[in-house]
Amino acid sequence: MQLLKDKIIKEGKVLSPTVLKVDTFLNHQIDPLLMKEIGHEFATRFTNEVITKVLTIESSGIAPATMLGLEIGAPVVFARKRKSLTLSDNLFTASVHSFTKNVTSDIAVSRDFLHADDNIIIIDDFLANGEAVKGLLHIAEQAGANVVGVGIVIEKGFQDGGKNLRAQGVRVESLAIVNELEEGKVTFAEEEAE
Ligand code: G4P
Repeated sequence: MQLLKDKIIKEGKVLSPTVLKVDTFLNHQIDPLLMKEIGHEFATRFTNEVITKVLTIESSGIAPATMLGLEIGAPVVFARKRKSLTLSDNLFTASVHSFTKNVTSDIAVSRDFLHADDNIIIIDDFLANGEAVKGLLHIAEQAGANVVGVGIVIEKGFQDGGKNLRAQGVRVESLAIVNELEEGKVTFAEEEAE
């Protein structure tokens, strides 16, 4: 998605060979117009699917997921990472290990919001090792729901998440695939070149 790649080039900061900072539009401040286009792009890529629910994880997945939900008229459910005062039982849960942060956290979704007849799309902001997506897939599986695919805003192609998910037969659509972060420069994957 050219608009997104232009934004990454213009505003993204390469913090290290493995970390890209994009908090001017995705991870802290949010650019609503770009998010609207991102929602539209996901809807276009999955236009042949009947989607009944958009599933994401707090916090940075919520904006792109909501824009897709608006575009296709489907509710958006986000997995919680922190214990909620009102969310106590009746949960689907999964354990998510972050290699970046070296912590494992439990994520949870109320059983009220995912059902066996749901056709789910999973949305997230970043795909690195794929642990968050794996946790969301596990939650969808517990609900007995069908997962039509995964939509990612920025995939880090040099980490294994995307490769592993695709090898398992999961459809993964990433709007920008970063292949290299070297010397302050972002290089995108060939197949994403427009
Ligand atoms: P994984 O789920 O693909 O295995 O990713 P990982 O554990 O490596 O990522 C943990 C957190 O760090 C996630 O956010 C993820 O989105 C984010 N992340 C991973 N790589 C990058 C990167 O290069 N740049 C940025 N900006 N973020 C990255 P989180 O902790 O869940 O944060 P949030 O959703 O609450 O913002």
